[in-house]
Amino acid sequence: MLATYSEHSYSKADIVVVDIHLDVTKRILGNPYEYEFTYDGFSRSIEVVANNISPNTLCVIESTVPPGTTAKVIYPIFVEAFRKRKLDINKFHLAHSYERVMPGRNCMDSIVNFYRVYSGINKESETMAEEFLKSFINTKDYPLYRLHSTTASEMAKVLENSYRAMNIAFIEEWTEYAEETEVDLFEVITAIRMRPTHKNIMSPGFGVGGYCLSKDPLLADWSYKNLFNGDGHLKMSVEAVATNDLMPNYTFDLLKREVGNLKDKHITILGISYLNDVADTRCSPTGLFYDKCLGEGANVNLHDPLVTFWEEKKLQINSEINHLRVKKHDVAIFTVRHSLYLDMTVDDILSTLPGVKVVIDANNIISNDTAKKLSDKNIKIIGVGKGQLKKLWKNNE
Ligand SMILES: NC(=O)c1ccc[n+]([C@@H]2O[C@H](COP(=O)([O-])OP(=O)(O)OC[C@H]3O[C@@H](n4cnc5c(N)ncnc54)[C@H](O)[C@@H]3O)[C@@H](O)[C@H]2O)c1
Repeated sequence: MLATYSEHSYSKADIVVVDIHLDVTKRILGNPYEYEFTYDGFSRSIEVVANNISPNTLCVIESTVPPGTTAKVIYPIFVEAFRKRKLDINKFHLAHSYERVMPGRNCMDSIVNFYRVYSGINKESETMAEEFLKSFINTKDYPLYRLHSTTASEMAKVLENSYRAMNIAFIEEWTEYAEETEVDLFEVITAIRMRPTHKNIMSPGFGVGGYCLSKDPLLADWSYKNLFNGDGHLKMSVEAVATNDLMPNYTFDLLKREVGNLKDKHITILGISYLNDVADTRCSPTGLFYDKCLGEGANVNLHDPLVTFWEEKKLQINSEINHLRVKKHDVAIFTVRHSLYLDMTVDDILSTLPGVKVVIDANNIISNDTAKKLSDKNIKIIGVGKGQLKKLWKNNE
């Protein structure tokens, strides 16, 4: 394998895999229809490939793109470049096959040992893509799935992520309801998951981050209107993005309800990444929560066991949890299900967060047993989707 900046290296390749990001810019938080999308940088990158590859190359698009992109945007770039280069476009092969990679420890495994969907712009492209995918995917246990067009393959990616985003947004609206009714929503969901048809109902939580769920439904919406002249929007998918983007507001409201004015209060946030046991902070819901705390004049302590630099905020992070022992804490919010937090005992919490008066469990991190013990020590504990905790502190009041 070779890593290079040289554009000429494309001419040496038999296969070019494109995994460049394609961003959506949201203009107004919570307004799902106010977003901007452009192919500009992406198209320029494809042009570089098209201007340099050898005629017999297979190009596999793995980027998540608006459905229709491979056929309507990418292929014409190759046609035009090959025309200018006086090369036979029929020798060129183009396919789409999207990643389902999971960041973190199992990253490689999630590529090799998982199902893959693919398609090509013609039969030969499909066959070549299949051969390529078979060379590194365990297709014996995870057979490939060939779709009938690259647009279908592109749609599969954004539909599966829209489905997941909607599933999360759906459970969000039950969170406050569960709290009002003093119900443990996690227990309710465990009961529902016993039913085979309902196994993938999502849990409530702090928010949705990462690069995919926070934008993929918008790529579908953009495609529908702009590549296929669709009338209207993919309303439910788009609104799910907005619901998920605003999710940290619920935890912030819990905080406000407990503390009132945040000015000069010492707020400790445990968890910056968007996912447990990974250091990835892209679109992390902690960002919105942190901004709101700062906006109200709070003193904010930050911790994450894996994040040492918060790229989006340009902040150095002390990932050693013991540094919190010498800080002041009025309220602590557990936001990410990092193993380190899940393993904390009551004594760990008390010694790490001296003086803390309120603990907010925003992601089902603290067990009912630990919550009871904290409550016995006069620490008020509340949680997202954890209406049952109300009973604990009611008994103590
Ligand atoms: N990371 C995931 O978990 C995941 C899962 C499924 C799909 N995807 C999709 O895969 C694509 C990439 O995602 P990512 O998370 O790796 O994004 P990323 O931003 O981490 O990586 C994209 C990389 O492409 C590089 N790049 C940009 N222009 C380039 C060019 N012209 N030539 C060479 N490199 C260039 C960037 O420097 C960057 O390193 C996206 O479309 C994303 O939606 C990602």
